[in-house]
Amino acid sequence: MEQRRWLKIAILMSLLAISCSRELKVKHKDNLPIYNHTIATILVEYASAVYLSDLTELFTWTCSRCDDLTEGFEVIELIVDVEHCLQGFVGVAKDLNAIVIAFRGTQENSIQNWVEDLYWKQLDLNYPGMPDAMVHHGFYSAYHNTTMRPGVVNAVKRAKKLYGDINVMVTGHSMGGAMAAFCALDLKVNHETQNVQVVTFGQPRIGDSAFVAYYSELVPNTFRVTNEHDIVPHLPPYYPHLTQKTYHHFPTEVWLYNAGFGSLVYPVEKVCDDSGEDPSCSRSVMGNSISDHLEYYGVELGGDTPRTCRIVMDPRVAAYGVQDLGGNFILSRDPSTSVVKLKIESSIPSNVI
Ligand SMILES: *[C@@H]1O[C@H](CO)[C@@H](O)[C@H](O)[C@H]1NC(C)=O
Ligand SMILES: *[C@@H]1O[C@H](CO)[C@@H](O)[C@H](O)[C@H]1NC(C)=O
Repeated sequence: MEQRRWLKIAILMSLLAISCSRELKVKHKDNLPIYNHTIATILVEYASAVYLSDLTELFTWTCSRCDDLTEGFEVIELIVDVEHCLQGFVGVAKDLNAIVIAFRGTQENSIQNWVEDLYWKQLDLNYPGMPDAMVHHGFYSAYHNTTMRPGVVNAVKRAKKLYGDINVMVTGHSMGGAMAAFCALDLKVNHETQNVQVVTFGQPRIGDSAFVAYYSELVPNTFRVTNEHDIVPHLPPYYPHLTQKTYHHFPTEVWLYNAGFGSLVYPVEKVCDDSGEDPSCSRSVMGNSISDHLEYYGVELGGDTPRTCRIVMDPRVAAYGVQDLGGNFILSRDPSTSVVKLKIESSIPSNVI
């Protein structure tokens, strides 16, 4: 009798265990972020616009790349770190019901030199508060140790005061993608932002597998779009056999490539596995193209002028700015006031700095 009762209990327990584990699995699957093509094609336009050097046009959202899917965007803050040649903006996209943050990629050297430098980047900084998680010091500092971070954090706070706890979408191309990832993580860990999502384009690797474990737990809604043979996502290199001491991408990659051949070529957007290093995605081809790096979804990503840190600004827009001792400045406007509208007349000279 006693034995039977135990048997019953044991069967019950195992049934429970099975249903529990099933439930957990299903739950996990439901929580996986879903790639949204529309959002990616909108965000790529923000990642493209942030490269432009005319700050007047950017601040008033009248630039040549400021129409199409980003029309009506309201810039809240434009951050220009002159010392480190960095640029980013924060604003509100009403159609997405989201705060959008975009970071510019590298401008200083020729892209060729920059890509060559990427080979040698070392995992040389322990990400604060994350034991064993190593990241690249330069990418980390570009966000954390410049005017970018205080500018962005402050603008997000001001936007949230007015719009409430709406989604935050962070984007960037190339090194701007690396900065977007550090920014999203910072907003989640240090600034109580729950609903943050990231889409980057042609982003290099930024940390090791321990870092990736933390990152993907904290910012699961992240898509890292890679295009065909774009060289930059292959850098710094990933060595599958050096499990601890190698750079490792975070998930989820979306690989854009053309399938078929001849007159039957058609574009594919492949959503890759949750490892970050899906061998059947961009890793299945050689990363040997710079031109694939400079265009995503047909949108040009790169500066409008030769790769310098030149900026152009109308004196009337400069009035919205605050400058620090290093010459870095932030243009900001009160999000509750109407959009800045300046009548730009071609006869008014712009200040070239
Ligand atoms: C993708 O995002 C757009 C814009 O927010 C939204 O309208 C659309 O419903 C989303 N699509 C899917 C499949 O979730
Ligand atoms: C931050 O930048 C300053 C000066 O640019 C430098 O002295 C300092 O070492 C940097 N800190 C980190 C953590 O990179």
